[in-house]
Amino acid sequence: MPISASENTVTITHQSNSNTSVSISLFGATTLSWKVNGEEKLWLSEKAILDGTKAVRGGIPIVFPRFGPPNPDHAATKALPQHGFARNSKWEFLGQVDPHSAQFGLSPDQLTSDFEKQWPFQFKAILTFTLKETSLDLKFEVENDDTKPWDFTFLCHTYFKIPEISKVEVDGLQKVTYYDQLTKKSEVRDSTVTFDQELDQIYYDVPSQLRIKSENTKLFKIQTNSNLSDAVVWNPWIEKSGSMADFAPHDGYKNMVCVESGHVKKFETLLPKEKWTASVEYTAEN
Ligand code: BG6
Repeated sequence: MPISASENTVTITHQSNSNTSVSISLFGATTLSWKVNGEEKLWLSEKAILDGTKAVRGGIPIVFPRFGPPNPDHAATKALPQHGFARNSKWEFLGQVDPHSAQFGLSPDQLTSDFEKQWPFQFKAILTFTLKETSLDLKFEVENDDTKPWDFTFLCHTYFKIPEISKVEVDGLQKVTYYDQLTKKSEVRDSTVTFDQELDQIYYDVPSQLRIKSENTKLFKIQTNSNLSDAVVWNPWIEKSGSMADFAPHDGYKNMVCVESGHVKKFETLLPKEKWTASVEYTAEN
């Protein structure tokens, strides 16, 4: 059975390789596990809270309708928590599209009354996950079901599992302008992104293909379509990860890197009945 559903988790297993699978929680439609030929490709905290009372620390949380902390100057989203409500809401399993694809939906009907008050707009969002032999494809579609326009940003907050952060580099962001969330400065990078301390940077207008490598071995290819033109690169390192109660083990920062494809440079405005689609394909290359 390629797609199986338990109470809160849906698992797609590859038809020709039972060791290749993806598991998605209804809480946040968060991918909890992506295995290629038996090997886990996503980092999930040992203390991740999986009962929907908090966003999952690890896997692929979905950030919508705002990225980052609330901005008091942005009236429509200023009441929302950091990274919006999609990752904290219970999505509906809509069923399978084909043996390797499953869909999840979110609309105001599933939001808590607090979220509904904080973001009082009608919308319909659909996430489609497709499992391939060595790839995982995520497609996000959102429609404005309201009579007035609304704004949003979107991001896939992907925690890749890696062998050792100090040996890892993110390739493809050379010559791209980024905003450093720690120094609060904008800069242009001339080399690949490497890690020897906490790093939290937003890259704007990035190439559609990025790579995560370890000592020249390709680990992951990240291929986006045109609507995911930004990328956040994040590793909390020692102090910040130590301050997060749901981050474990304490040295888990060595085995994770977030390379988050998104649309975050500016808010996108959707007019009534308008739709917006974005997709990203992750390929495990090793
Ligand atoms: C990243 C942000 O996307 O998410 C960081 O750039 C933030 O600033 C990180 O710390 C984790 O956020 P959260 O809300 O899941 O702890």
